[in-house]
Amino acid sequence: MKKFIALVLAVALALPTSLRADEGMWIPLLIQKLNYAQMKKEGLKLSAKDLYDINHGSLKDAIVSFGGFCTGEIISSQGLLLTNHHCGYDAIQKHSTVEHNYLEDGFWAMERSQELPNPGLFANFLVRIEDVTAAVNASLNDQMSEADRTKAIQMKGAELAKAATEGTHYEASVETFYHGNEFYLFVYEKFNDVRLVGTPPSSVGKFGGDTDNWMWPRHTGDFSMFRVYAGKDGKPADFSAENVPLTPKHHLPVSTKGVKDGDFTMIFGYPGRTDRYLSSWGVQQAIDHYNPTVVKIRDQKLAVLRKYMESDPALNILMASNYASTANYWKYYIGQTEQLKNNKVYDKKRDLEKQFEAWIAASPERQAKYGESLKLMAEYYDATNPTVKNNVFLMEAVLRGPSSVLFAYRNVRSLERAYKDKAGFAKARPMIEELAKENFAEFHAGADRDMMLALWSMYMSDIPTAQQPKFLQSFGGSKAALEAFAQNAMATSIFMDAKRFAAFLENPDSATLANDPLTKVANDFRTTYFGGQDASLAAKKSKAYRLLTAGVREMDPNRTWSPDANSTMRMTYGHVGSYEPRDGVKYDYLTYLDGVMQKEDATNPEFVVPARLKELYKAKDFGPYADKTGRVPVGIISGNDITGGNSGSPLINAKGELIGVAFDGNWEAMSGDIFYETELQRTISCDIRYVLFIIDKYAGAGHLVKEMTLR
Ligand code: ARG
Repeated sequence: MKKFIALVLAVALALPTSLRADEGMWIPLLIQKLNYAQMKKEGLKLSAKDLYDINHGSLKDAIVSFGGFCTGEIISSQGLLLTNHHCGYDAIQKHSTVEHNYLEDGFWAMERSQELPNPGLFANFLVRIEDVTAAVNASLNDQMSEADRTKAIQMKGAELAKAATEGTHYEASVETFYHGNEFYLFVYEKFNDVRLVGTPPSSVGKFGGDTDNWMWPRHTGDFSMFRVYAGKDGKPADFSAENVPLTPKHHLPVSTKGVKDGDFTMIFGYPGRTDRYLSSWGVQQAIDHYNPTVVKIRDQKLAVLRKYMESDPALNILMASNYASTANYWKYYIGQTEQLKNNKVYDKKRDLEKQFEAWIAASPERQAKYGESLKLMAEYYDATNPTVKNNVFLMEAVLRGPSSVLFAYRNVRSLERAYKDKAGFAKARPMIEELAKENFAEFHAGADRDMMLALWSMYMSDIPTAQQPKFLQSFGGSKAALEAFAQNAMATSIFMDAKRFAAFLENPDSATLANDPLTKVANDFRTTYFGGQDASLAAKKSKAYRLLTAGVREMDPNRTWSPDANSTMRMTYGHVGSYEPRDGVKYDYLTYLDGVMQKEDATNPEFVVPARLKELYKAKDFGPYADKTGRVPVGIISGNDITGGNSGSPLINAKGELIGVAFDGNWEAMSGDIFYETELQRTISCDIRYVLFIIDKYAGAGHLVKEMTLR
């Protein structure tokens, strides 16, 4: 027995340092300095310059910000781009009609001329990153107010960005890292002609629907394909039939060899937002106030959308994208609350804060520098706890509730110029018309009115009257008054009818705009939301987090603290990894097509399996895409640190080859944006072999596979 234990120990110690998930969304510029040695130790076979280099094509050149909300990667020498189905969803929806329903049936361009343009969609390539912390800090001092500090950062940032792009067609911005402690400049080349190449049907691309969303084991083929086009000179150009497929500096080769449990993996992409430095007070506010309010409001939003979607196939398409994105973060907040509790995140934050307090108390110098931070934190949260729900209602039930409100909010000020500043208005008009076209293409007045009734009656009953925006107060708590208002808005508002809106543009009249019911809603929103924010509280918060973040980093300098996500390019490395979600249960690192068949339920739209997929499965017609076991891998999990915005990111092996496309996180670690769960947290990707199988065998679009560099 003893011998056995010694043997087990020896084996355990001989394993790579850790098969655990690695926390950290690292800045590509700093890989060589901060991460490379460890990555190499864990299995990476490439040089640091293969990953990030500004003089030669490197891995980072194959990664793009897809439309600013997702990630894409270039996988051929002809600009072919891979991302998620849920990232392409809005574009796919826009091309869909009841007759040509690409959401339901999928779409494949069999030749270039069939690829579909998507106005407004872009692919942003990162040219380079520069550490400008010293330059920005030189314009700051400790005596400054928080407001002056913010202003100085903005001004310096704008100046640096301008200098960095002078005489080029590049765009640049300076972004804040570590909550106001470091600053980096990002230079981009933005391509605006991005065309839809192919997508599987939703029964593959969204298989499992909201039921399986945010969960493992997973069987979703969550991918779609686009192509980036450039002008003949290879530079960015607006859509034109003359444009040619982009020749990228680098494209990812594809490996169909697969990986085993524990193998090295990395992901490059554009994570949107994490809150890893959130304090214990912040965690409590999320659990008690913020999260449950978002969920409650979205419950109602989804119910209204469902009612219309189920009533008419055209509306089912029209509202699909809005429904999917609303449901995605509805479930996110349910999961985050549950796991903040399960994973005891409040206690973990408290522990760190206590350690921090003791560390500060040990030195007068530290007291002077950081002593204020937790006091400010407590003050900020005590002061905001009573009003957080109102802010959620303002955002979720007003600004992003009925879509006519957002449309009004975006336009009221520019429309006022029609009689205040005629020249300015004439200039802005094409843009306004473009916005209107986009807005009304997806607008449904009846659903919008119902949204007002459902969300605003809840708002009246859940939030103290004194906090409510004026238009809501004016109903005096009466549902009949709200109903009359909504009915009147639907009958008269220029923001709820394309013809009325167009007529206003033709003949702008100040009384029409001023008396429009939604002008009032938009203006009241602005006053309550921005007027209601106490600037001194916002200052407290930003100072508290700046000090806390700097302080904990100084307290524990041996730990490499990763900066929070901020929609800039990051790299995360880790390992393929099975895990134990709870006692007695082990989740494998791979799922197979067999699981799709096991989950099939023809009576549930989320689990319908297309007939063609069943035929291929039955005939075992897998082409070269099955693994050694003779089965087609579908899902794969790895310990990589991603979040929303990373969707569509490439899962890459130790040699820099594409092995999957990342699309989700797992339920047990839904608190991960606030506290990374080393044992539990996983990235869920679609195995590249499933992607290729669907393209080649299911859709018959093998020409696209031929375009790739297969290894
Ligand atoms: N949870 C995923 C993300 O936020 C989106 C998955 C889309 N699938 C779905 N069933 N809604 O990236």
